[in-house]
Amino acid sequence: MDAPNDVVKVGDLLVRPYETKDRAAVRYICYVTGYMGEPIDWQWKDAKSLADTFTGYYTDQEPESALVVENKDGEVVGYLLGCVDSRRAPTPEKVIIRHVFTRGIAFMPGTAGFVWRSAWDIVTDVMTGKIRPSDRKLEFDPRWPAHLHIDLLQEAIGRGAGSALMRIWLDRLRYLKVPGCHLGTLAENHRAIAFFEAMGFRKEGNNPPVPGERTRDGKRLHSQLMVQELN
Ligand SMILES: CC(C)(COP(=O)(O)OP(=O)(O)OC[C@H]1O[C@@H](n2cnc3c(N)ncnc32)[C@H](O)[C@@H]1OP(=O)(O)O)[C@@H](O)C(=O)NCCC(=O)NCCS
Repeated sequence: MDAPNDVVKVGDLLVRPYETKDRAAVRYICYVTGYMGEPIDWQWKDAKSLADTFTGYYTDQEPESALVVENKDGEVVGYLLGCVDSRRAPTPEKVIIRHVFTRGIAFMPGTAGFVWRSAWDIVTDVMTGKIRPSDRKLEFDPRWPAHLHIDLLQEAIGRGAGSALMRIWLDRLRYLKVPGCHLGTLAENHRAIAFFEAMGFRKEGNNPPVPGERTRDGKRLHSQLMVQELN
């Protein structure tokens, strides 16, 4: 991180820039928080492809925009992974499609069901008008070129680490004169939405259903775009 004040103590938690040695912990946290802060293994059993999709670009291509939270034992218990210019990062869909061909996730037990359900959802949602082709992807928007992912383990939640991560990230974007930031979450992730609103983001656009993903009792989940201008 280039901006000042990028190491902050929050109680006995420490927020600091990401280092290469944190990579495995970041990938682990992505997997065990993948369902709105809870493990996602009951619907996606391949940690590698999930971590590649949601952390790979950030840790490997833009590590200077990543921050981690450390507990008092020096263990990484959370992260914020940022991207200053979203045109540089591959979309999750692109990474997933790559894994269909390189890792066989469409035929792997534990992921195949999700992949085929996603394909089915996309076809039926388009046919029934629940999603329009323009809903499917978040086009690059120059008003909010940056984006982020943020996840904390349960032990770090509700202790101010999330807001410390976010303050450092938004300060960095202001320092770099980036005009705005967006993020994608689930409309059903009410805790995260309340947090993002407290951090200055607002809801934008509609809530198309997310292909493949389900609640534990089989209900559809919906995406929520959130944005914030910075000046
Ligand atoms: C969302 C998340 C990053 C928030 O981090 P956090 O450290 O728990 O949040 P903070 O303690 O810094 O809270 C900052 C402010 O956000 C708001 N907020 C946080 N949690 C909230 C909740 N459950 N309900 C309502 N408001 C909440 C409050 O305004 C809070 O300020 P306050 O403590 O002065 O009231 C964290 O809960 C998390 O990692 N959740 C699981 C993973 C996840 O859902 N990630 C987002 C995926 S898109």
